[in-house]
Amino acid sequence: MTAPLRGSDPIVVDVALGARSYDIVIGRGQLASLGARIAKLRPGAKVAIVSDKNVAARHLDAAVAAVKGNVLQVCTVVLPPGESTKSFEHLASLCDHLISQRIERNDLVIALGGGVIGDLTGFAAAIVRRGLDYVQVPTSLLAQVDSSVGGKTAIDSPQGKNLIGAFHQPVLVIADTALLDTLPEREFRAGYAEVAKYGLLGDAAFFAWLEANWKDVFAGGPAREHAIATSCRAKAAIVARDERETGDRMLLNLGHTFGHALEAAAGYSDRLLHGEAIAIGMALAFEFSARRGLLPKAEAERAIGHLAAVGLPTRIGQVEGGGPPLDELMDLIAQDKKVSRGKLTFILARGIGNAFVAPEVDAQDVRAFLAEMLKQAN
Ligand code: GLY
Repeated sequence: MTAPLRGSDPIVVDVALGARSYDIVIGRGQLASLGARIAKLRPGAKVAIVSDKNVAARHLDAAVAAVKGNVLQVCTVVLPPGESTKSFEHLASLCDHLISQRIERNDLVIALGGGVIGDLTGFAAAIVRRGLDYVQVPTSLLAQVDSSVGGKTAIDSPQGKNLIGAFHQPVLVIADTALLDTLPEREFRAGYAEVAKYGLLGDAAFFAWLEANWKDVFAGGPAREHAIATSCRAKAAIVARDERETGDRMLLNLGHTFGHALEAAAGYSDRLLHGEAIAIGMALAFEFSARRGLLPKAEAERAIGHLAAVGLPTRIGQVEGGGPPLDELMDLIAQDKKVSRGKLTFILARGIGNAFVAPEVDAQDVRAFLAEMLKQAN
């Protein structure tokens, strides 16, 4: 992640949603193209750039420089970093700010940051003046391959993550892969879990490519761009088929039912980053699938082995401070995905690249499986 790498021609992925279609522009140095791209999209617009303190220190000046001269007016909003920013309080102050800066329907809001900034800014854009257009400029690997694409916007409620929100698609996503050079390695690795997810859920060839090339993805350069573009193409195809998550989009939740519960139990803290929780969740989903005879044990071991090889946690025992008690874990699972008459909806796998939605999983089977996993962890 340290070698100075040259800028590249971007890879452009189309999210095909009819009149609401948009491009994801992927490549090193693409932040510099932001101004020209938005001038083309909204000539003469005012823009508000929303970021957090950490990202602003690294990238806000470059973002402002990129848009200046291409827009009528630019204002900036810098929020505190961290999941607690996805609150009503910060949503209210962001909305007030956008209104007082007179950002109108033909103007643009730009989310410059990771998933927290993207989700919060997208939701503010969805509701201010009944809907403003916005651009995602994701600055974390996780946001570049997942949260910036597909129009899910939200804040958290005391009852859980992302419970208050709206589907509101951006008009453009710019994934400048050079912005990932300054990410702490742990955060990049956590984001990689979502990259591996696309291979595991629907693309065995991509998974095999990742097994062979993951070190180059971490190092930056063309392999990183290929991995991000392949992930975005996979997500764009799923979102185009099922924007509102009534079917196929649920596949993107592979590892998330177990993962969200572990993340919640760890208090959404540095004890367990989102991507790390998803890595454990995917490992559990493959192990659980193998035990149900859906795929050979060796294939589940291969899936889990790759996550472990890149340094991601794959076992509950690897959560810093230990995993939660079984009852707490089951309660959290029930909150995340509704239990209906003792049945849970899970994403399970018939093989690497072959995940499916299993709507009728017996909660007692899940409980027995987790009891065993927790016993191994202790
Ligand atoms: N992150 C899952 C989705 O966008 O549906």
